[in-house]
Amino acid sequence: MLNEKFNSFLSWHIYQVYPRSFYDSDGDGIGDLAGVTAKLDYLKELGINAIWLCPCFKSPNVDNGYDVADYRDIMDEFGTMADMQKLIDALHSRDMKLILDLVPNHTSDQHKWFQESRKSKDNPYSDYYYWYDTPPNDWQSMFGGSAYSFDEVRGQYYLHSYAPQQPDLNWENPKVVQEIQAVVDFWVDMGADGFRIDVIDQISKDFEGNRNCFGPHLHEYIQALFGRKKTEHIFTVGECWAGELEEIRRHIGQDRGELSTLFQFGHLNYGRADKFTPKPGSLTQLWNCIRYWDETMQNNELLFSVFTDNHDNGWMLERLGSRQYRYESACCIAAMMYLLRGVCFVYQGQEIGMLNPSYSTIEQFRDVESINMYQALCKEMSPERAMEKINFGSRDNQRRPFCWDGTKHAGFTTGTPWIPVHSECKTCNLEKDRASEKSVWQFYRDILHLRMAHPALTVGRFAPVAPRDTNYCAFTRTEGDEQFLVVCNFETPQELKIDGAKGKLILSNYGLIEKTNHYYAPYEVAVFRRTLHG
Ligand code: GLC
Repeated sequence: MLNEKFNSFLSWHIYQVYPRSFYDSDGDGIGDLAGVTAKLDYLKELGINAIWLCPCFKSPNVDNGYDVADYRDIMDEFGTMADMQKLIDALHSRDMKLILDLVPNHTSDQHKWFQESRKSKDNPYSDYYYWYDTPPNDWQSMFGGSAYSFDEVRGQYYLHSYAPQQPDLNWENPKVVQEIQAVVDFWVDMGADGFRIDVIDQISKDFEGNRNCFGPHLHEYIQALFGRKKTEHIFTVGECWAGELEEIRRHIGQDRGELSTLFQFGHLNYGRADKFTPKPGSLTQLWNCIRYWDETMQNNELLFSVFTDNHDNGWMLERLGSRQYRYESACCIAAMMYLLRGVCFVYQGQEIGMLNPSYSTIEQFRDVESINMYQALCKEMSPERAMEKINFGSRDNQRRPFCWDGTKHAGFTTGTPWIPVHSECKTCNLEKDRASEKSVWQFYRDILHLRMAHPALTVGRFAPVAPRDTNYCAFTRTEGDEQFLVVCNFETPQELKIDGAKGKLILSNYGLIEKTNHYYAPYEVAVFRRTLHG
């Protein structure tokens, strides 16, 4: 059994906002906090009750806010602390929660700590980062090149797991632990209801095992942050590449005083060989994966998190759905995922079935990872081939402005957007989708509202009905005498004879017409509800 606190998170529908690209309230071409506040009623109508705000702290934006220069202030382009307070109040007055993005592994090189640290080997901040006379290993930066750069001022090398402007904090220094604890407390006092924690597994390095993550002190550090009285009520989700059950349990076991849940990423790799290279993938793979994990997490009293998209990966619909059946496959993925047992995360734009845009030059991209990758690829292949890969895998696919309507700049800004808007925003935008008979948005809304109305779909037991390796998915969710049966066919039309009584059809993406045969069309979803024992 999940305890009361963890159980309550099963009803959270968290919408991930990428503030830079959500809605621009002041015409400077960059989304902002006031823009998020302006759209809360929109989110509420969709059935969202919490938002996760990607980093909004002071930053020179080498990595769009994942390079924090001051954890206690707001990025200039996003507004002020007063705007943040207004957003928090506006959320709470709507009974919605705020989850902030905590980036504890590294800061910006512009952060005061680094500016001080680089000055000398014996100042109060000198051990806040990892400094070396010569690099101790050959670790590579996630954005390309060595993970060690030479700093002229201090005359030493420092470690950066990401861009050179993102030096890694040295958590072995107890002062660093205290500093980040104080940051957490600052935001809890401001009214934050939780945190998504960036690359949490990297805060302790395994130097001996030559791994830049999952070091020997990881759990000690996580407990120092979240195993305290001050933080016992908040929600936390770790960005963490734990794959084995025992490792997952160490992070999110209810008795651990660590995290509430974590993102498990296995399913994001279906449909690609690596981030920039497509490889055929299928919904069958997705079904095998979620079927296993939803059941395993439930049986082990762990809180699962359900998501398909985020700001770091191209759209899942592009890899596992179908362009021809955009509406049907978007609904199929939504029903299959969001009727599971777990905390739901929806990434902005997913609710209108966004697909990857396509561009011909690298000038239309902004992401540091994509630009570095393009330069590296061009050494090995033609620029056209390199662009194909960037179009497939760029993180900018999901970072382009939200398409509100078909007007200039997709209704995102009255100014010039910081990044060109999605190349297909005239055909795929919220206004158009909502007006359509085949509205992905409406389907997302129906699912989220169904969850809100029926405990069976939040806290209820999950039981798979379709076995592994099937070309369809089917499962039940049950609480008390209420049971739902969810059936999602994949691409091939077929007869599906599901055992047992089904009940009344209450949700479909092919019209709410009571099924009189077993035929399922491509990506057809049918959700049935029944009362058990008469
Ligand atoms: C995480 C973030 C990503 C960022 C990186 C460095 O993976 O999701 O956007 O670039 O950490 O902070």
